[in-house]
Amino acid sequence: MEQGNKTKSLSGNSKQFSPLSRKGLVIAIDGPAASGKSTTARLLAKRLGYLYLDTGTMYRALTWKALRDKVDIKNPKALSELARSTRISLKPKSDLSIRVYLDDKDVTSFIRSPKVNKYVSLVSTVKELREVMVVQQREIARCRSLVAEGRDTGTVVFPRADVKIFLQASFEERAKRRWKENKERGLSLATEEVEAELANRDRIDSQRKTSPLKRAKGAIVIDNTHLDILQTVERMWEIVEKKMT
Ligand code: DC
Repeated sequence: MEQGNKTKSLSGNSKQFSPLSRKGLVIAIDGPAASGKSTTARLLAKRLGYLYLDTGTMYRALTWKALRDKVDIKNPKALSELARSTRISLKPKSDLSIRVYLDDKDVTSFIRSPKVNKYVSLVSTVKELREVMVVQQREIARCRSLVAEGRDTGTVVFPRADVKIFLQASFEERAKRRWKENKERGLSLATEEVEAELANRDRIDSQRKTSPLKRAKGAIVIDNTHLDILQTVERMWEIVEKKMT
């Protein structure tokens, strides 16, 4: 609830785009790690005055909890239990960031650590855990216009989304972005280390049995290797606009 209500108050630009907002679309954006999904989806949601749902934060929050509580991450049953007994909520802030709460604890600053980066893909392979997450994601989205992003939002979570986008960029470009992101967070990792971690996540995310990352049926591909954030959002906007006319 919190997320939808608050998001309305964040929609500084929404008046300008209110005809689109009123129509109310479900927009699903999927793509590999470091393809720029989070930033672009968030900006698109703001422009539309829509709810922004970053599904990756939910898998990250669970991974963080599993690591903290020393849950055996090779044990699917233990992980599903953990998912079932954990409450995750996402609260948007006025600066457009999202705070992630896990059982009422703000875990936002922990969920993008190298350790979580390392294990989140593995944790996300567990079928039963994903089922719990999908139910929660649909619940958050109920009756709302939204921009959802992740790996399976167009294929599994919202297969009937009005707009589906598959965002991709070359491996080299994504590794560069991830390296920069780490640096901005004060982490100076070697390029090889960043590349190895990214390659590992790509492999697990796209080869897992349950809900692997793939282009959803009907999804429009945007390759943003040579586009910046705003150019990417503009492409997305054009796709959304076309849908409305
Ligand atoms: O988008 P991200 O990098 O924050 O996602 C972190 C991980 O979570 C990603 O490697 C795989 C998993 N994930 C997923 O399996 N399904 C989603 N819908 C979103 C994320």
